[in-house]
Amino acid sequence: MTVETSEFTQRLAERAAEVEAALETILDRRPLDGEIARPAHLLAAMRHGVLNGGKRLRPFLVLETAALTGADTGAALRVAAALECVHCYSLIHDDLPAMDNDDLRRGMPTVHVAFDDATAILAGDTLLTLAFEIIAAPQTRTDDGRKAALVFSLARAAGIGGMAGGQALDLAAERTPPDEAGIITLQAMKTGALIRFACEAGAILGSASGKERESLVRFGEAIGLAFQLADDLLDVTSDSAHMGKATGKDAEQGKATLVGLHGQQWARRQLAGLVDEATGLLEGFGDRGKTLCAAARFIAERDR
Ligand code: IPE
Ligand code: IPE
Ligand code: MG
Ligand code: MG
Ligand code: MG
Repeated sequence: MTVETSEFTQRLAERAAEVEAALETILDRRPLDGEIARPAHLLAAMRHGVLNGGKRLRPFLVLETAALTGADTGAALRVAAALECVHCYSLIHDDLPAMDNDDLRRGMPTVHVAFDDATAILAGDTLLTLAFEIIAAPQTRTDDGRKAALVFSLARAAGIGGMAGGQALDLAAERTPPDEAGIITLQAMKTGALIRFACEAGAILGSASGKERESLVRFGEAIGLAFQLADDLLDVTSDSAHMGKATGKDAEQGKATLVGLHGQQWARRQLAGLVDEATGLLEGFGDRGKTLCAAARFIAERDR
């Protein structure tokens, strides 16, 4: 491991701990003002699906793009936590029997296995709603214009033209295999959209110029594609004990992936190209873009 890589993984771990602490506070057992009660069983399911040691890569991207554009760190942490809630909801629903039907996630039983399907559906619903509440809440210290822009972009990223729409295309692809362009579209939606939002969020929170925001968004698109390509590669090359989730299932379930279409070597070359592209997009930030470039490499070369 190069020094650069170990420095990066340490920074990722530090940021993950900050995000974990923020999520722990948000998922407190005590009801907030205006809440009537917090059903213990549902809250336990939400906590199971969130406070379970994810890599916290999307929050990391929010925090680092926010740092790059001079945003308030407290507000960035709240937005990072909100995005992680949307991501965890997407995983809880992705694992349901009606979708990928998985029983292992982050090394633990999936939420519908530890609880039941109905509770897992509701845990996903409440986490999605919670994300928007976190952004809008008074504790998120940024102006209302920025909050509205964040709510708008996150809704776009999570909705029919983003993650949820991509999940629908992913399921449809099990019956009618798409061509390469179709796979790229579905991956840009199901996985890319939230990662793109992570990078855009920092620009919204900070004082990025229009050109800087555009570069960060395009950076997010490149690493979003790389992220799912790496996930699909790991589904073939890794094992479930290491990944903490099922592997070898994409081919079995007839999932449409670029690795399935073109093979592992092609995927590795493609990943290297996406890292170069992402790195090039941050040139304008000079040395300040170093951590995000390391994040792009990490995403492409990760082993879990
Ligand atoms: C897994 O995401 C789901 C995909 C979009 C491929 P991550 O690999 O970021 O999962 P966690 O959050 O670290 O568990
Ligand atoms: C999941 O893609 C994407 C979302 C959850 C939106 P996968 O189905 O490949 O993710 P894993 O492999 O189960 O983590
Ligand atoms: Mg899936
Ligand atoms: Mg899955
Ligand atoms: Mg996968």
